[in-house]
Amino acid sequence: MAFSTITDLDVAAAQKKSNELLARLLSTSSETYVTGPVGQGTGERVLVLGGTGYIGRALVPELAARGYQPVLLTRNAEVKNDAEFASAEVAVGDPTRPGDIARLIEAAPVDVVISLLSGRRPNDAEECRLVDHEAVVNGIKASVAGKVRQFIHISDFGAYRPELIPQVYKLQVEGELIGQHHGPLPWTIIRPTAYYPYLSMTFGDVKNGLKYRIFDHGEYNVVNPIAREDLAEFIVNQVLNADALGRVLPVGGPWSEENVVTLKKAGEMMFEINGRTPDWEVVSMAAWDKKIARLTRLGKISKQLKPVAYYLEAAKYWSVVDHVAPAYGTRTLREFMGKLVDREWPTGSFRERMKNGTNVMPTDV
Ligand SMILES: NC(=O)c1ccc[n+]([C@@H]2O[C@H](COP(=O)([O-])OP(=O)(O)OC[C@H]3O[C@@H](n4cnc5c(N)ncnc54)[C@H](OP(=O)(O)O)[C@@H]3O)[C@@H](O)[C@H]2O)c1
Repeated sequence: MAFSTITDLDVAAAQKKSNELLARLLSTSSETYVTGPVGQGTGERVLVLGGTGYIGRALVPELAARGYQPVLLTRNAEVKNDAEFASAEVAVGDPTRPGDIARLIEAAPVDVVISLLSGRRPNDAEECRLVDHEAVVNGIKASVAGKVRQFIHISDFGAYRPELIPQVYKLQVEGELIGQHHGPLPWTIIRPTAYYPYLSMTFGDVKNGLKYRIFDHGEYNVVNPIAREDLAEFIVNQVLNADALGRVLPVGGPWSEENVVTLKKAGEMMFEINGRTPDWEVVSMAAWDKKIARLTRLGKISKQLKPVAYYLEAAKYWSVVDHVAPAYGTRTLREFMGKLVDREWPTGSFRERMKNGTNVMPTDV
């Protein structure tokens, strides 16, 4: 990633730009999409790759409720006994092995394939290649061979500025679908903005009395995140929908005060919900840039430090790149945070838990 070094002028200009964008979004109604379920299935089989994760747990019940038969391929045999997936046919297999998806589709034809696949370690370039690219391409090839009627690729809004490894692979998959590199296959690409847990990672820190970190003013970017239930409804609206074929659909949550935020505003929400006065840990972006440069240099000679450099870059990316897309849904970030307030959070900071591998993301709501 090559961010240039930031000056005082850039710092002030970035805040001005974010506040102008916020004001524009809050005074405009987003009419690209009409919220509400569209389309009903009659038992069509929909294979969801990566369907056991955060979005999958909302998508599978939504598919079933809308008359489709969800089918899952997972590496985890326990999913067969999981009540959350009771409506799905569950096959055990690994999408990174080319034959596993193909055999599943050969055994019983599927109408639609939806990919939510994503590696668990975004700083591991090889895992990203294997999951975010190879496994999805395995799904595309099997879909072409099985004459699947539609392939829906859940990409990432960040693919417009692909500076993190998974986004680069998501963009490659987009190109291969659009260019029909693996054979004829009707496709739909969905680019969601951020999900609520990623804007609420440090909720427990704020609840436990710790500070909230911002870069300078904390207003380098604007995000309209989307609730998984709303995204699930949006995805199912595209299933076998002729209007969605050959389309790239960017989508985020409502353009309202409760849902469109800078990172500082997300922090203010956390303090307010927890009944605290805002208490910021202000880090200068100029100092952060120097830290990234130093660790990137050290990462070239130390295997241990390479992932650290990545996390610093990722923290910067999520703090400076706008993720604003047309609105869908009714749920808001504030409502999501409201659901977190009564729970117990482990002591220590989220960042310390990230370092020792015991991080807790609020992905159960
Ligand atoms: N996080 C965000 O804010 C954001 C924003 C926009 C788009 N997205 C994209 O939205 C999609 C859905 O996200 P999500 O949060 O629901 O994903 P998730 O919870 O991380 O789940 C992804 C699934 O991928 C499978 N998987 C993970 N590592 C694998 C490996 N090494 N080999 C084979 N399969 C593997 C897992 O299935 P099994 O364990 O069952 O095999 C898992 O259920 C992803 O493509 C993500 O990149 C995310």
